[in-house]
Amino acid sequence: MTASDIWVFDAYGTLLDVHAAVRALSAGDEERWAAISRTWREKQLAYTWLTAASGHYLDFASLTERALDYALLRHGESGTTIRDALLSAYETLPATDGAHHLLHRLKEECSATIAILTNGGAEATQRAIKANGLSTWIDVILSAETLRTYKPDPRVYALVETIPGFQTRGDIRFVSANAWDAYHASAFGLHAIWISGEGEPGEQVAKRPTQTVARLGEVGV
Ligand code: LAC
Repeated sequence: MTASDIWVFDAYGTLLDVHAAVRALSAGDEERWAAISRTWREKQLAYTWLTAASGHYLDFASLTERALDYALLRHGESGTTIRDALLSAYETLPATDGAHHLLHRLKEECSATIAILTNGGAEATQRAIKANGLSTWIDVILSAETLRTYKPDPRVYALVETIPGFQTRGDIRFVSANAWDAYHASAFGLHAIWISGEGEPGEQVAKRPTQTVARLGEVGV
């Protein structure tokens, strides 16, 4: 194994399809529920940054719940049944398109060490990747919860330095579909690969990732 064979992936939004919970439960009014899902996700992220900046730490699962409550209120949706169903579905999010294929290739063709670096809780992330089968390829889960803060706090990116075989930051391939995450990982010194999707302009702060591709399936191994 060489140092360049360490690959680190963001979890929620990159390996785990964060909009799948809503999609699975929103038959009949997809557009409205897609908007609710976007508000849920945006608020969840905003709460991670707010609680980290204010020092009033709450764990990721609590923030996910509170962000969902905000989204349901914001869109005039009431009812605990859908709330509970969504939170339950969030525990077993499916893999994003191309995730299985890419991780399989990294493991089989490159014998890579594959880690997750996530703002999510370690146990919740472990449960999710076990349920969708990605755990087959993952060697290490690093969670920001050990530091009671969230990415993009550089101390969270520094957790990659604990991965067996670590040599230099620039040798670590860090893959994220969250632009802010890829840009801050790049500013930290990792070889960041941003999965941009279509039409995303990229961030105007932090540092441009080393590589940008539209889909996970386009990541070169
Ligand atoms: C994560 C967040 C960014 O998994 O979704 O770290």
